[in-house]
Amino acid sequence: MIKRPIKAGLSFKPIALLSAVLLMPFSGVSSAEATAKQQAKQLFQSCASCHGQQAEGQAALGAPTLAGQLPSYLERAMAEFAAGKRGQEDHYAQQMAAMSLSLQDEQQRKLLASYISALPSKEIQVPARSGDAAYRLYQASCGGCHGVKAEGNKALNSPRLAGMDEAYITRQLEHFRSGKRGASSRYAKQMQMMANTLKGPQDIKLISQFIAKL
Ligand code: HEC
Ligand code: HEC
Repeated sequence: MIKRPIKAGLSFKPIALLSAVLLMPFSGVSSAEATAKQQAKQLFQSCASCHGQQAEGQAALGAPTLAGQLPSYLERAMAEFAAGKRGQEDHYAQQMAAMSLSLQDEQQRKLLASYISALPSKEIQVPARSGDAAYRLYQASCGGCHGVKAEGNKALNSPRLAGMDEAYITRQLEHFRSGKRGASSRYAKQMQMMANTLKGPQDIKLISQFIAKL
């Protein structure tokens, strides 16, 4: 009775080995990379309950989309929450600050940032070059840093904004304007100055709706 499973195991082994050897050169993924990805995927499980299985975001929970975001921005944001530089703005930010403490160190944040940024994100449509007020406002005041399609710009440390939900964008713009957000780094300071160039609730609504639709 005991012998049977052992025998079965043995008979499968050569096939498994053979296929591993045959597939390895074609897979293009080293085992170290595969292990890192697996580890990141596991870590991400604790994030998915709010940000969604594919990091697509859940507006109802105030959790923004993260898929396709610049890894350098994701890493910095996580570090800033963990260090208490972000996280006091409102109860959404407080929730994220608490979650950020579950990550042990920089290495885990790096691992997660590259995993999340590679998750599939919506392809951004080039906004129609219209005489539309929102288009003009965006390209004149925001596009220089965040990109024509709000795809983000690594060299300028400006995150991707396309596809974020309107409520999240509005809330962040209000936080920058009220000074609740903006002290975490010199990049945040730059953004705060830009947010203050918006004239008021009408501009904020216009621009938030425009970005959310990209
Ligand atoms: C309890 C729900 C919840 C969980 C779980 C959670 N988050 Fe968040 N996260 C949020 C909310 C809400 C925000 C928006 C905070 C704000 O409005 O300032 C956020 C914001 C972020 C941001 C900043 C996004 C930006 O564009 O600036 C990053 C990065 C992030 N989360 C990563 C993670 C990672 C990685 C995990 C898992 C370790 C995680 N979150 C788990 C709720 C959550
Ligand atoms: C000078 C460059 C620059 C310009 C111009 C600029 N931004 Fe930003 N923006 C940034 C940077 C850098 C950040 C990241 C701030 C941080 O790290 O906290 C940012 C962050 C943001 C965020 C928060 C994103 C998130 O994931 O939490 C929003 C929303 C935003 N910008 C909207 C806008 C809008 C709308 C405009 C035009 C009115 C604009 N920005 C113009 C540089 C810029």
